[in-house]
Amino acid sequence: MKSTSRSSTGRLLYAQSGGVTAVINATAAGVIEAARAKGVKVYAARNGILGALREDLIDTSKESASAIAALRHTPGGAFGSCRYKLKSLEANRAEYERLIEVLRAHDIRWFLYNGGNDSADTALKISQLGKAMGYDIRCIGVPKTVDNDLAVTDCCPGFGSVAKYTAISTLEASLDVASMADTSTKVFILEVMGRHAGWIAAASGLAGEGVDAPPHIILFPERVFDEAAFLAKVKATVERVGWCTVVASEGIRNAEGQFLAEAGTRDAFGHSQLGGVAPVLASLVKEKLGYKYHWALPDYLQRSARHLTSKTDAEQAYAVGKAAVEYALAGMNAVMPVIVRSSDAPYRWKIEAAPLSKIANREKKMPTGFLTRDGFGITAAARRYLAPLIQGEAPLPYGKDGLPKYVQLKNAAVERKLPEFKP
Ligand code: F6P
Repeated sequence: MKSTSRSSTGRLLYAQSGGVTAVINATAAGVIEAARAKGVKVYAARNGILGALREDLIDTSKESASAIAALRHTPGGAFGSCRYKLKSLEANRAEYERLIEVLRAHDIRWFLYNGGNDSADTALKISQLGKAMGYDIRCIGVPKTVDNDLAVTDCCPGFGSVAKYTAISTLEASLDVASMADTSTKVFILEVMGRHAGWIAAASGLAGEGVDAPPHIILFPERVFDEAAFLAKVKATVERVGWCTVVASEGIRNAEGQFLAEAGTRDAFGHSQLGGVAPVLASLVKEKLGYKYHWALPDYLQRSARHLTSKTDAEQAYAVGKAAVEYALAGMNAVMPVIVRSSDAPYRWKIEAAPLSKIANREKKMPTGFLTRDGFGITAAARRYLAPLIQGEAPLPYGKDGLPKYVQLKNAAVERKLPEFKP
């Protein structure tokens, strides 16, 4: 992982990738502030790897220190993100040659790619470019995903905040439905993201503890959806408690392996677009049990909710950005700064380097020991894991208009040096 030679000049390229989070810009702040402290100029690729291919680069040195600091509390992806899969070197050599050409033209010696498991794969491929094409480039993957499904790292920046949003929303909506249940709504269904892993759904379990506390039912993608068992539990809960809160992961499947809700489209990585499981479940509840329901699909609200960010998450997001720069400048290649937990309570964590080859294209699902025997809840072990990740608040500066003071960067373009290229 460690290299013997180290570039003493050159620029650092940072790119954001995949679905953005409430704290990915905190990572950007960590990167830019750490690089500035070492006198290294940072370029950002506009819209992820596409910006690198199109030679559409942003000069972050044009931004003030206060604008970069404000990234720590601004959600979304400040430089734009993308879902774009680089093929293998053999399958699309032209794209790799173009990348090298762009990196060389702008004297980029360090590349930091901030994303999930697909992006770790892209980062790994680019890290192999140096050797294959004779260009000295150090490549570091920087973790980010609300799905929390990256291998090796204990948790992923972005997850703690969506977990906090989900736990709080479950609690608040449950107080609402409990008030109405006598004469109105009996069942509330919340659908959450997470793709094929149930981490976000699991976080809703932090809203309450004990059989009568919400959420009464959590539906995980790690378990086959059993319609009869689900309806029986909804009925029993309404009869016992008076109402029922259900949290469903977007990725749940039936016994045939089909997603309950698939939009019918696929992204560049071949992933099905998911979403819409809540109305499917609500219709089932109405049709088979006759209960009045409400359902909610927070969708992008959950992963952009900076007003409910976890302090722990915001700190970890910044720390991985800073560490990525330190690794790159120390000459490391094909690694990712990962979060290592040394204790649950008090919660202690540190950052270490892990090889990208152990992270790329792998998905970490919820372990069996985190799910209750009936598959509808979380265990004490899951609570111990999840609880520290939603700890603390990361307050926002608000303006006179009552809105948060989010920063809009200038995103000044770097002058192009090469002919146009269409990826
Ligand atoms: O991977 C993060 C994620 O938010 C998933 O939970 C969700 O299924 C997906 O992104 C949505 O992707 P997009 O914004 O590209 O539709």
